[in-house]
Amino acid sequence: MAAESWTEKSRALAAAGLVVMGRDAQTKIEELTNLAPLIEAANASNTRLLTSQSIDELLSIVPTEENLTEAEPATQSNSQTLQATLARPETGQAIGRTIAPIATNEPSPAPRPHGLDHYRMQDFPMQASDVDSEIEIHFDITGSSRTEGKMTDIKSFFGDRLKQIRNQLISGGALPRRPVSIAEAWRNRQRHTSKDYEVTLVGLASDTRWSRAGNLNFVLEDETQNLSCTLKPPSGASPLHPSLDGLMDDEVVGISGHFYEKRFSASDIHLPPMRQHSKATAGEDRAVSAAFLSDVHVGSKTFLAPQWEKMIQWFNSDPLAQTVKYFVLSGDGVDGVGIYPGQERHLAITDLFAQYGELARLLEGLPDWVDVVILPGNHDAVRPAEPQPALDPEVQQDYSDAVFVGNPCEFSLHGVRVLSYHGKSIDDFVAGLRSVTYSKPEMAMRAMLERRHLAPSWGGKTPLSPEPEDRMVIQQTPDIFVTGHVHGHYVGNHKGTTIVHSSTWQDQTDYQRMLGFQPKPCILTVINLHTHESASIPFA
Ligand SMILES: [Fe+2]
Ligand SMILES: [Fe+2]
Repeated sequence: MAAESWTEKSRALAAAGLVVMGRDAQTKIEELTNLAPLIEAANASNTRLLTSQSIDELLSIVPTEENLTEAEPATQSNSQTLQATLARPETGQAIGRTIAPIATNEPSPAPRPHGLDHYRMQDFPMQASDVDSEIEIHFDITGSSRTEGKMTDIKSFFGDRLKQIRNQLISGGALPRRPVSIAEAWRNRQRHTSKDYEVTLVGLASDTRWSRAGNLNFVLEDETQNLSCTLKPPSGASPLHPSLDGLMDDEVVGISGHFYEKRFSASDIHLPPMRQHSKATAGEDRAVSAAFLSDVHVGSKTFLAPQWEKMIQWFNSDPLAQTVKYFVLSGDGVDGVGIYPGQERHLAITDLFAQYGELARLLEGLPDWVDVVILPGNHDAVRPAEPQPALDPEVQQDYSDAVFVGNPCEFSLHGVRVLSYHGKSIDDFVAGLRSVTYSKPEMAMRAMLERRHLAPSWGGKTPLSPEPEDRMVIQQTPDIFVTGHVHGHYVGNHKGTTIVHSSTWQDQTDYQRMLGFQPKPCILTVINLHTHESASIPFA
């Protein structure tokens, strides 16, 4: 209104039924930058004639930009809430009706579907098409599996695990004293019979169970012998302390304590130290993003095709999508064939190669600037024993722009180290640790990082390949740790590492319905490799 001419103002006043009387009145109106409060006050006071005097009276009872203090600057909301009328001279009461104040609406962002966090585009600063691809593979078993599955292989597999994690315990300063072998401690058990003469051991835990008194009983085994142990929960222990949370079968731990008859009474338990991790970042001139998804399950009747179309449209139109340089699929790209009894009933595509052909067709819809990284999972057509090699070259030939790697795989994107693992062992973690449930797969991921092992348990639900070197050991803390498999969704942080549990593209299955499990499908997780900010985009 500030720039309104007298003609416009007189027209507005006439439209409001007001008549301006005299040159002085016109001058006062010309000086006003906003007529609305004057018109409101005149209407409310049943005033029709605007004289110099009535204008002064009306303006004295309404806030205008001129009479508002600096401490309370004029806003549309407070000029609306402070409406009033002139007073009746004889009674002092307001003339006419008092206009009800209008509630102030504080602008706030609309809630996002699924309650997902908001993201800011300035955290995703670079167009993917401006940057060349830079994927460096650090570990992938493909072509280098060296086991015949013999007893000697199994022995060297566990021997290597023990050696790797024992070294992490010692070099990380996690142990109070130099560890000795179980055989040596046993030989000298008469010397270690009280708290004053404790000894430290390192071995693989198994046969874990809680006693009626709430103590954790387990067997510790190293290269020399087995030992029955008891761990009493320390007073005030967190629910995540192994004495309360549990131990995974075959995980490597250190324990300190003394002998009590033929058992070892552990006063303390030691895991490899996990200190705050300082993430590597891609350079400012490489500030592109990576998107994470798994468990597409193409070929299943519950694959969510319309939502996939929606995502492809998003990829080809949304500003955030233009920053996505890498698209990581962490296993179970197809539903597979013969994975579980009666699977045929749930398949829309019953031929395995046709399933992979359809996945290739679906990925064709992604823009040219996106590089796809594909890992296998337990539904894929590779050996189930982990580490799993990449998909067969015969399958790969259908895909034009994809990098096929094994499961798990460690790779860097512009210097940012990613550990991607399909996550089959989450089934074992749910069975082994009290803190882990299917609705909280991130707790299993946290436990994997803390234990430095992706799948410790032999003979559980995760088939393992007894390689001479145990490459399921987490040798280096990743910047981004990603899993899938249980069809949830999570993005968070554990001691500096970004944890991503990738979403699925499969609707609730009959089996999940029977278990009462509700998946979180069709959420694409995007992480910028320079800012490390994340965005979760729902398509369902
Ligand atoms: Fe899956
Ligand atoms: Fe899976």
